[in-house]
Amino acid sequence: MGLVQGKVALVTGAGRGIGESSARLFAAEGASVVVADVDGEAALRVAEAIATSGGNAVAVQADVTDEDQVIAMVATAMEHFGRLDCAHNNAGISGTVSTFTDLNLSEWNRMITINLTSVFLSMKHEIPAILASGGGSIVNTSSGAGVVGFAGLPHYVASKHGVVGLTKTAAIEYAKQGLRVNAVLPGTTNTPMIQQFTEANPDIGKMVAKTVGRGRLGEPEEIAEAAVWLCSDRASFVSGESMLVDGATVCR
Ligand SMILES: NC(=O)c1ccc[n+]([C@@H]2O[C@H](COP(=O)([O-])OP(=O)(O)OC[C@H]3O[C@@H](n4cnc5c(N)ncnc54)[C@H](O)[C@@H]3O)[C@@H](O)[C@H]2O)c1
Repeated sequence: MGLVQGKVALVTGAGRGIGESSARLFAAEGASVVVADVDGEAALRVAEAIATSGGNAVAVQADVTDEDQVIAMVATAMEHFGRLDCAHNNAGISGTVSTFTDLNLSEWNRMITINLTSVFLSMKHEIPAILASGGGSIVNTSSGAGVVGFAGLPHYVASKHGVVGLTKTAAIEYAKQGLRVNAVLPGTTNTPMIQQFTEANPDIGKMVAKTVGRGRLGEPEEIAEAAVWLCSDRASFVSGESMLVDGATVCR
């Protein structure tokens, strides 16, 4: 029996990086998976890889900043698999580095829309589907930047603190209805988001690794392990938690 055997899980931003690892692990642990990404080809590639490995998955092209597309994404889970038990709201961007005074409003709005409003919209439409399925679990991807500040990233830090706030609020609001809501807070993780910097300049990777207690970046599979466990029944009394998965970084 897998950790999430027989459940239906939806993962956003599942076309690559942490979301891809999460979708693959949900499937490997026995769930049927809705693989959602704004990049429809990437979502399809991941769903096909899951099917090739013997898993059950359907791909959906969905921009999670667009409410109609979010509604259609959740409807896919219900129409295709007849229920929704777990959701990992993971889609997000890193954005550009900027001081407060140089940050323009359009970049602020873009970050808040993609990293925070998307999580609100996703939860707004996932929650009724999960409750109609008898309860379940949601995990939102925040960041170490969801609990500490980082100079040069006011918009990213605000968006990821916001994800923690949404998580806590939903956890309280739905605790008595059998819905658990948690956040996973990755440290710097070796995904295409970070590889764009580390491949251009390997010294950046070495510099970042020195700030991590473990002395290396995280791997997306290590973040996925936390997300899938939080969604499993083994985490039945865990709700409203902000789980750092950062190899001892923020705690130092
Ligand atoms: N990689 C890290 O170091 C790190 C650290 C902390 C938190 N995070 C967070 O983890 C999450 C995943 O990051 P990653 O490193 O895997 O990034 P990534 O860029 O490698 O992958 C992100 C995926 O999200 C998708 N996406 C982006 N905008 C979308 C939208 N509007 N609708 C649907 N899909 C969308 C992209 O197409 C892509 O497939 C993000 O929320 C990120 O902020 C990452």
